[in-house]
Amino acid sequence: MNNLECYNFQPKLSSFREEILQGLAQSQKAIAPKFFYDKRGSELFDQICELEEYYPTRTEIHLLKTYCGEIAELVGPQGLLIEYGSGSSYKVRILLDTLQHPVGYMPIDISFEHMLQASAELAQSYPNLDVMAVCADYTQPLQLPSYGKKPVGKKLIFFPGSTIGNLDPIEALHLLKQSASLLETGDGMLVGVDLKKDPAILHAAYNDALGVTAAFNLNLLLRINNDLEANFDLVNFRHWAFYNQDESRIEMHLLSLKDQTVMVEKTPFNFREGETIHTENSYKYSVEEFEAIANQAGFQAAKVWTDANHLFSIHYLRKR
Ligand code: AVI
Repeated sequence: MNNLECYNFQPKLSSFREEILQGLAQSQKAIAPKFFYDKRGSELFDQICELEEYYPTRTEIHLLKTYCGEIAELVGPQGLLIEYGSGSSYKVRILLDTLQHPVGYMPIDISFEHMLQASAELAQSYPNLDVMAVCADYTQPLQLPSYGKKPVGKKLIFFPGSTIGNLDPIEALHLLKQSASLLETGDGMLVGVDLKKDPAILHAAYNDALGVTAAFNLNLLLRINNDLEANFDLVNFRHWAFYNQDESRIEMHLLSLKDQTVMVEKTPFNFREGETIHTENSYKYSVEEFEAIANQAGFQAAKVWTDANHLFSIHYLRKR
């Protein structure tokens, strides 16, 4: 395929090991949510997106399908689309099908295999599009591969799924600033942001009846057992997710069901019964709160779309 290029800046296993050992040594044990997405974790996340209770994916897709014409107008012709955390690339197809002659697509994802497969499929479906797959951690400073094959109109960074909610507001500001630094004045960023709502809806979305979210959370321990030498016994931990109203965030934890010691490589970690590993935050914003952060990061909040039930928002930010 001559319209596909790959750039591998995947973080080393040693950085996974260091982060896990460091996170488990804290008084509130914690593991960053970016580590959910090994092969099994990515598959489980795809299943979460199909769940009845998990409204963000279908609501965002509905918004994209409804407003892709307006988005295409804002981007204009010959756009270069950059996507953070490309996942299964379904949403970007909605944009690619509507944008006016997009020239390039640059997915940036930490999960190499998953991204490569999706990028190859995309390059095949869009033979006139130059696909440049970048395996990297987009939360870290990054330099994009340069693109010079065709003249480029505006760049658009696409960050769907409310993944920005998995960062705390300071980190989100930082990521938006870093994103702005990759753009020129007038370029855009399209961000999916989950909205504040009735906590009962949020609780159901992160505690689905089929237990897929629980399996997704617990898979982190399996991954540590597999990738490092560790002996987490999954029957001794339970998924725990709740809405923290003061912080406006869902918190996910893995709760130890008994006093136990787990070995990770040569280091023992003691757990008391009821002690948790904090595995994820998922912040929820009002439209105004998110616009204020975007503004602080150097963007003008040019347009926002929300659904009739006010569950989810998509923001088009323009670099000032
Ligand atoms: C990827 N991210 C936006 C999801 C969320 O809703 O925070 C991850 C997730 N965790 C549990 N369910 C979904």
